[in-house]
Amino acid sequence: MYTFDELQLLINGEMARRMTRLASRKPAELYAPVNYTLEVGGKRLRPALLLMAYNLFSDDVEKALPAALAVEVFHNFTLLHDDIMDKAEVRRNMPAAHIKFSENNAILSGDAMAFISYQYLMECRSGNMPEMLSLFTETALEVCEGQQYDMDFENRSEVSENEYLKMIRLKTAVLLGCSLKAGALLAEISDETANQLYQFGMNLGMAFQLQDDWLDTFGNQKNFGKKIGGDILANKKTYLLVKALENATGDVKKRLVSWLHGTDFNADKKINAVTEIYQQLGIADLTEKKIEYFIRTAEKIFDSIPVNELRKEPLNLLTKKMLGRKK
Ligand code: IPE
Ligand code: IPE
Ligand code: MG
Ligand code: MG
Ligand code: MG
Repeated sequence: MYTFDELQLLINGEMARRMTRLASRKPAELYAPVNYTLEVGGKRLRPALLLMAYNLFSDDVEKALPAALAVEVFHNFTLLHDDIMDKAEVRRNMPAAHIKFSENNAILSGDAMAFISYQYLMECRSGNMPEMLSLFTETALEVCEGQQYDMDFENRSEVSENEYLKMIRLKTAVLLGCSLKAGALLAEISDETANQLYQFGMNLGMAFQLQDDWLDTFGNQKNFGKKIGGDILANKKTYLLVKALENATGDVKKRLVSWLHGTDFNADKKINAVTEIYQQLGIADLTEKKIEYFIRTAEKIFDSIPVNELRKEPLNLLTKKMLGRKK
């Protein structure tokens, strides 16, 4: 059985080896942003989830390592494009790839990463490869669908809570579900258990994106690694904004709507004003309640997975670590 830290070592070691190989490919301009993004690394949650799901049933985690790297490279590809779409200039406390290099570089290197992720995935040897490929491909399409809704919603004046939940299910939750299910598929266990792991990951993913929304306004920039208030500036229909628009009345609503429609404003003033409105409306609390709901649902599903409790411990700890990130 492996702990999160042991799996991180495995993931980082294998990633570094592969980055060295990629760094010798030409043209260097194509691979430099790939290396830049993958070397800095983030929390590496998705590959850890995949390996932990596999490790619930099997000990030879090396067998699942290429698939773990595949989901991480795929995730990083989405971040390169996401930062262009969100006009976000800071990622992991470093300049985003499109700032460090150029927008065109970040687009093309992102594309290359999507293909690299398939290359890694195809290294896996398992009787379930057709299922793996179709899960991965469907997930990739769903992430694109979620990202499209996310952008469309920026220009809509009202978005319902259900529309928001569907959007984050697609842009974020499915990749966590996919990572966990892929681990189960590689371990060749029953479809029923693999699907329970998928549902567990989906609920975890919902809580994770809600927490990301919360952190984007109320977080600490250094720990979060991204610019606080970016969502407010982009008029992102985060859970915070969806609930604020739903709950605000009278003068507060007028002020909120005028900040959303304004075009000539000082960025910090807008962030402060909207944050203050969120505070008046108790939005942080509402968001925390929703996060709790998805955590509880995830826990219930996890408890029902028929695996020895001791073997579940690393995944249990990682879930807590992932969702205790409120600072
Ligand atoms: C960022 O994901 C995108 C979201 C789904 C919120 P992570 O928070 O897992 O990013 P890194 O890889 O750790 O930087
Ligand atoms: C995360 O959306 C979804 C994807 C990157 C596919 P965000 O736009 O909230 O992610 P961050 O906050 O930039 O990491
Ligand atoms: Mg973003
Ligand atoms: Mg985004
Ligand atoms: Mg975000």
